[in-house]
Amino acid sequence: MKITNICCIGAGYVGGPTMAVIAKKNPHIKVTIVDINAERIAAWNDEDVSKLPIYEPGLAEIVKETRGKNLFFSTEIDKAINASEMIFISVNTPTKTYGKGKGMAADLKYVELCARNIAEVAKSDKIVVEKSTLPVRTAQAIKSILDNTGNGVKYSILSNPEFLAEGTAIEDLLNPDRVLIGGESEDAIESLANVYGSWVSQDRILRTNVWSSELSKLTANAFLAQRISSINAISELCEKTEANVGEVARAIGMDSRIGSKFLNASIGFGGSCFQKDILNLVYIARSYGLNEVADYWEQVIILNDHQKRRFSDNLISTLYNTVSGKKIAMLGWAFKKDTNDTRESAAIYVADHLLSEQAHIAVYDPKVSEERTQLDLNYLNTRSEEENKDLVKTYSDPYEAAKDAHAIAIMTEWDEFKAFDWQKIYDGMKKPAFIFDGRNILDQKEMEAIGFEYSSIGK
Ligand code: UDX
Ligand code: UDX
Repeated sequence: MKITNICCIGAGYVGGPTMAVIAKKNPHIKVTIVDINAERIAAWNDEDVSKLPIYEPGLAEIVKETRGKNLFFSTEIDKAINASEMIFISVNTPTKTYGKGKGMAADLKYVELCARNIAEVAKSDKIVVEKSTLPVRTAQAIKSILDNTGNGVKYSILSNPEFLAEGTAIEDLLNPDRVLIGGESEDAIESLANVYGSWVSQDRILRTNVWSSELSKLTANAFLAQRISSINAISELCEKTEANVGEVARAIGMDSRIGSKFLNASIGFGGSCFQKDILNLVYIARSYGLNEVADYWEQVIILNDHQKRRFSDNLISTLYNTVSGKKIAMLGWAFKKDTNDTRESAAIYVADHLLSEQAHIAVYDPKVSEERTQLDLNYLNTRSEEENKDLVKTYSDPYEAAKDAHAIAIMTEWDEFKAFDWQKIYDGMKKPAFIFDGRNILDQKEMEAIGFEYSSIGK
């Protein structure tokens, strides 16, 4: 099928950047991103590209270049579906918060709504592409909905999982390690391979069956997260034995079979994918009665929760076993640097624990809004919205955030933190002045020379 029009349902962290790059590299294809959230679409259409709903290095430039030419953002979902030969489903698939599989399984209600929406309005044959991360065998469910409720038009379903990481999304999209396309129809697979073929060499485009493709996405995320939990487990042992986790990571990473990436010990991984996808994997394994498999992967999450808790426990015990009434400055709220995304950020859980111990929290993050910080805490339902507002203040100036603080907790590895005037921060703080470096980004000797009581992960 010759593709001239693409529609993407879901203008989020995945849909937005992915479609922007597809549009840039395929000037002959009209790409329309639709979303039920009118406010989000309006932000994507904002004249001022610094107001786009998503912060990603390089994204604003591409949107500026393509928007209005062959990239469009709209709330007219039906119209965009009808006009396209290829439809990407890129809506969110959060962990279920109710019913069977609560807290484990992926909630597919938005994906199903999309399928029903497509079935209702489509008047010509369509290729439907699963971009959202989905449990294995979801394509079959989508196909069944399309075939049974549609108007007799033909559908081909493809699985095309996204491997981009936030903060480097554009770079990852422009130079992907691989593009994975799972499907039954060879024609449909080649149509999508041609879209990517505009900038990705064909030997990097893998063709598999649909189930392998779906499972590969969950497996890739599980393996990546597992590496972080593995090194974080070793970090705790390092703290007891005077080994240094940085040195251990370097030593093992030079073994080419292990590799050096994804071995940074931290306060624990966050983000919209790792936890959700592993829980999903665990749920699927258990539903087939594979309890050993389920337990094995579940441990990655258990260790990650432990790492977050260990960080806040350590902070409290170091501050003479109480943070009640003390000001703790948290540098960083996003789940990693170079993004404004805070989903599952370790900062949220560390803050929540400290607040339960009656700490006052001052947050500084270069890209996260005060509103977002409050929403994240309120979502946990641990205390009233008024209390959160009262106890957690957001600052646009890091020096103000740190002023009169008893301790600083570094939650995100933003580059700018390294360049702060740490002497000035020290001078403004209560003494002894503590730093808890949850990302191991500062130089211990330098901090101690200034006078800080410095502790980090795994040292
Ligand atoms: C994506 C994937 O799709 C998810 O499966 C993956 O695991 C993480 O990344 P992401 O782009 O990060 O999700 O989600 P989000 O930023 O929440 O964007 C989803 C968008 O879909 C939202 O803007 C939402 O308004 C929209 N949406 C949701 C619809 O347009 N229709 C719906 O029915 C539901
Ligand atoms: C991840 C996958 O990397 C990506 O392929 C998939 O498409 C979506 O999920 P993302 O969650 O955006 O991407 O970012 P990632 O760079 O993987 O970081 C996830 C979390 O792990 C962050 O909180 C990060 O700080 C943490 N992390 C990462 C570590 O703690 N140590 C590391 O060595 C690497």
